[in-house]
Formats: sequence, C-alpha cells, structure tokens
Amino acid sequence: MKTRMTITPKHWQEAVVYQIYPRSFMDANGDGIGDLRGIIGKLDYLRKLGVDVVWLSPIYRSPGDDNGYDISDYREIAEEFGTMDDWRELRDGLHERGMRLVMDLVINHTSDEHPWFEASRASRDNPYRHYYIWRDPKPDGSEPNNWVSVFGGSAWQFDEVTGQYYLHLFSRKQPDLNWTHPKVRESLYDMIRWWIGQGIDGFRMDVINYISKTEELPDAERHGGARYAWGGDYFVSGPRFLEFLAEMNEQALSARPGLLTVGEMPGVTPEQAHRYTGDPAYGMNMVFQFEHVDIDGGGGDWFRAGWSPRELKGILHKWQLALSDEGWNSLYLNNHDQPRAVSRFGQDREHRVASAKMLATLLHTLKGTPYVYQGEELGMTNTYFPSIRDYRDVATRNAYFEQVELHGVHPARMLEAIHRKSRDNARTPMQWTGGANAGFTTGTPWIGINPNYREINAAQAVDDPNSVFTYYRRLIALRKAHPDVLVYGRYEAFAEWHEHIYAYTRTAASGERWLVMLNLTAIDSWLQLPDHLRHDARDVILGNYPLMAEWDIMEVSLRPYEARVYRLR
Ligand code: GLC
Ligand code: CA
Repeated sequence: MKTRMTITPKHWQEAVVYQIYPRSFMDANGDGIGDLRGIIGKLDYLRKLGVDVVWLSPIYRSPGDDNGYDISDYREIAEEFGTMDDWRELRDGLHERGMRLVMDLVINHTSDEHPWFEASRASRDNPYRHYYIWRDPKPDGSEPNNWVSVFGGSAWQFDEVTGQYYLHLFSRKQPDLNWTHPKVRESLYDMIRWWIGQGIDGFRMDVINYISKTEELPDAERHGGARYAWGGDYFVSGPRFLEFLAEMNEQALSARPGLLTVGEMPGVTPEQAHRYTGDPAYGMNMVFQFEHVDIDGGGGDWFRAGWSPRELKGILHKWQLALSDEGWNSLYLNNHDQPRAVSRFGQDREHRVASAKMLATLLHTLKGTPYVYQGEELGMTNTYFPSIRDYRDVATRNAYFEQVELHGVHPARMLEAIHRKSRDNARTPMQWTGGANAGFTTGTPWIGINPNYREINAAQAVDDPNSVFTYYRRLIALRKAHPDVLVYGRYEAFAEWHEHIYAYTRTAASGERWLVMLNLTAIDSWLQLPDHLRHDARDVILGNYPLMAEWDIMEVSLRPYEARVYRLR
C-alpha cells in the first residue's frame, strides 16, 4: 500500500483530528444517508482545512438501533455506507493526501443481531453462551440487580428462550460482552489485528472503561425513590480494566507501532487519565474525559442547565496541569453525543462567529490533541426541531417517553430540554451549500436539516477570509508551524480568579512565549497583566476581532467572546 506519510514517534501529539459522523456527512447516492463515497468526494475539503487524521464513527454492519454503535459484523461495512472496496479507496485517498484513518472500536458491547449473541441466546449450553453476561432473575422474577441503563430503564433484558436476563448498559439491542471470558478477548483481538492488517492508523475506543464489571454485579445505591440506579461503581474502570488494556495492547495494538489510540472514558478522573496515558504498557495515547461536557449535568441530566465560565476554565485548567509532564490530553468541545459547542459554550445568535472563533482558539492553543467535529469548523449550531417525531436518537426518544409518559413532565418542557441537550443537535447533516438539502443529499435526508443552512454552509465559508472555516485553517496551520510552542510548550495560567477571561501562556523550550486571552462571555471584560508578562514588544499572532495596533501595557480589555494570541518578546 502506498503512503506518503512520515510518521514521527509522537505524530499523534502534533495531529489535529477531524471526526466524521458518516450518516450525516455527505450522501453520494441520493438515499438520504451519508456514505463512504460521499466522504471520498470531500477529501480535498478536509485537506484544505489541514487536518491530519480522520476518525470515522462506526461504519460496520449494524441494524442501526444506536446509529452503528450496535455492531452485527465487525468485518463488514454497513450496506448503506458502501463496500469494502469503497473503504479501501477512502483509505488510499486519505493516505495519498497525507492524512491518517482512525476507526471507531466498539467492543464493550455488540448488537443483539451479532451472530455471537444469536448463538448465545439460543441455549444455556451454547459455546457462545458466556460471550455475554447472563444471570437468573431474582426469586421474585425481577432483574438480577437494579442498574439503570445509560439510555434509561433497567440495564437488564429478560430473554424468554432461556429464562435468564442479559446485561445491556446501553440499549437492549446492545448486549454487553463478557470480557472475563478468554474467548471473547481472543475474538476481539483477532478482529483488531485484522483491521490493522487492512491498513488503518488508529482506534477510538468506545466506552472502553466500562469493559470490566465487578464479578458479583451488586445492586447500586439508590437515590430518592427511583427504581433503578447508576451502577458505575461496579463497572467504571472496573477490577480487571487495566489488565485487559495491557493485554489488548500486547496482543493486538502493538502489532502496529505508531497507532493513534484514544479511549472514550466517561467518569475518568485526571489521576486515572495520568496513569493510563502515562504508561505505554496500556497502549492508550489519550482519553476523552467528560468533566467539561458534564458541567451542566451532561446528556443524562435533562433539566440541569447552569454552568459558569469560571467553572469551565477551572476544569480545563485542572486537566492541563494533571497531564502536563506525563500523559497527554485530548481536546474537544463537542462530538456526535454532545450539543454543538457554539450553542453551548458560545452564543449562536449575534455572537455566533466571534464565539465559534474564540472556542476554536481555546481548542488549538491548549496543550493536547485537538478534535474537530464535522461542521464545527463552519460554526454549525444546535437545531430546534418542533416535535419529538423529528428526533431520531434512541437516547432522546427513550428519555422523552420516560419523562413525558412515565413521569408526567410537560411535553413543551421536555422539548426545551431536548433542544438544549439532544445528541441529534450534532447529527443534523453537514451544511455544504445554500441549495436544496444543504447540498447533503438529492433525496430525503434521514434526519432534518438545520434551517440555518442558507446562511451557514461550506460553500459560503471556504474562501471567505473572515469565516469560521478560514479561522480554523489558520489555527491548524499555526500548530504545524509552531509545534515547539503550541504542541510541546509549557502551559501556565494566570488570573485564575477571573470570572470571564481565560488567560494563559505557552512557553517553548527555547523560551519563546505566547500569550492567549479569551473572553468566555458576551460581557466586555478587562484584565491586568501580571508583571512578568508586561513585555515591551508583542507580535499579534491571531485574533477574532480587528485588532488595535497598540494596546495598553498593563491592562487588556476584551470585547464579547474576543480571543487574542500574542507572541511576547
Ligand atoms: C459512546 C458513543 C455513543 C454510543 C455509546 C454506546 O458513548 O459515543 O454514541 O451511544 O457509546 O455505544
Ligand atoms: Ca447514501
């Protein structure tokens, strides 16, 4: 296989990753669903943006209960996305352009339509029985324990055929694999080696810190009157988690040195992340932590909304310090599970462009590997669909049913929460043009298009010097031109007490120092510089407002969502 890439040992630290949610990226054949040929047609767009790595959300065969995070065949491409030949063409197309391909690895669970599960459920003595987690009912016939599923309701599903329950931490069509069974691990490692053999460059590991469950599966502590409770104490970074990681690295991932690996880890602490990413034995370059996206209770806590800029910078700061010497941070502000960053952490009305650029500055100037989610580079926003019938996400639909039908929440109140938090906010199609269906499809899109596509779209943005897209391009290019500062440079914050402004420096080994100041709010705000930063000369590197040539030596005032980057001399 031909490739023009030079892989430095720490290429994953220098990279900018772009996440594609294939279903919503580009539809090439008019069936309303994004596909691999659609992605192939947009490779030059990605090259223009300048990203180094493309991460594809799952494209494997799947009944689609959770949009591909329920896999029924790990070695086939879902029909609606294309064929293995399309996939090879995509791989080569990326490699020829100097980009790498990272695939989603969903191995905490499979689909209930995976042949392993079909065999497992057939009889109690089937050789695949122990591929999954089966338990007898309690004496009264109820679930083996009181765990709640991430998507609502019990985490257990009763199966008539054999009279036992199986565990599913996500939807009932996503049964959890039993990692304590050696054959499960062997089968998964074999599959990983197979994909490495196909020439992929890395893995994003779905909820990887849930794979080891406490053997006895004890009841979780209940809060209030709820029937089911969060059992995380018994499976988040569970008893054999690190053993499994090390084994998977030894038997599968290390088959190809230089893979990019990132573990999705809800609930991970900075200390754990330090441990996992600091020791090469675990094969984990970085993790996706959740603290900053759980700042408002995250997706599970539908009715909590408040957060303060000071809290946000406090969380980011803590993670910067925790992984400053050993280990490595991932940096992300949204993905396919989160609302759009500009609607959530910025402002998607009159300050949309300014706040999207401010957040972009944050993303690319903190220390770590930035992940850009499709459409973020256009400043795409949340969607406010009028009816629950417009939503497609299984988590959103389950929650609506639970809250409205079971708990009697007023539909309008629930819809308002969904507008703020639904995962579908991130899943509306990419806005390529101002024409029909935003240029995403010639057919009927599988999910509604955000009506603001006439104003917000790639065709408008790519050649506009003031667009969010152009600003992302500049930041990505800056990271490449100055890795000593932006990738490897030391991070130090100041004015940590400030309610509006996040301010920090990045200092290269050579002593070169850059100053970053971000107004996280719509309020004009000012900041006094500490003595050691009152240098005589400064070069303007970047900003999201027309910059005043001179600025006060002691005091800086920032306009709504203003971002400024200076080089100090
Ligand atoms: C991860 C995925 C999410 C999926 C879940 C179950 O959190 O990002 O989309 O629903 O795992 O696989
Ligand atoms: Ca299609």
